[in-house]
Amino acid sequence: MGLVLKTVRADITRLAVDAIVNAANESLLGGGGVDGAIHRAAGPELLAECRALGGCPTGDAKVTRGYGLPAPYVIHAVGPRWRGGDRGEAELLASCYRRALEIAEDLRLATIAFPCISTGIYGYPFEPAARIALSTVRAHPPASLAEATFCCFSEEDRAVYTRLLFSEEDVYPNL
Ligand code: AR6
Repeated sequence: MGLVLKTVRADITRLAVDAIVNAANESLLGGGGVDGAIHRAAGPELLAECRALGGCPTGDAKVTRGYGLPAPYVIHAVGPRWRGGDRGEAELLASCYRRALEIAEDLRLATIAFPCISTGIYGYPFEPAARIALSTVRAHPPASLAEATFCCFSEEDRAVYTRLLFSEEDVYPNL
């Protein structure tokens, strides 16, 4: 069976999937945006487990339990800050998605939801980031995974994923 890719407009903290992905920073100690929302919804035990992880480099990801969230796991992925596009941002963004997918494979997860990493506080332009998200998941589908959801906070963002999902072009052939 093939992997189903879908997009929804939702608060990712409400999704009952096997893992939600967090757009974290290198400290893994919380922050604003989706990170803040995840920590608020999961409760203080999440921060306690994150403290024990000792941070995470940009382009990498680490997993914790979900605590108060409907999702049993949170995969904390650290995307790059946008610094103009010629500082390795695309490779680092693809790398944090790949690492999240490797963790999903290790845990034999069937369902996962991603926010559009780096496109809020970190300033990565939305459509290029969404293309990297889609092409990386398409290129590295974990054997266990049945469904990957691209979760957006606005209808406008969701429309970008919808357009990319239904286009036949290879959205980002070089990564
Ligand atoms: N559900 C789904 N998507 C969301 C939610 C939500 N509840 N909240 C925001 N988004 P951001 P970044 C979208 O800023 O750019 C934190 O301080 C948002 O519209 O959360 O990777 C971290 O600690 C955007 O499309 O993450 C880091 O320091 C996307 O999620 C820094 O921000 C990512 O926006 C990471 O910045």
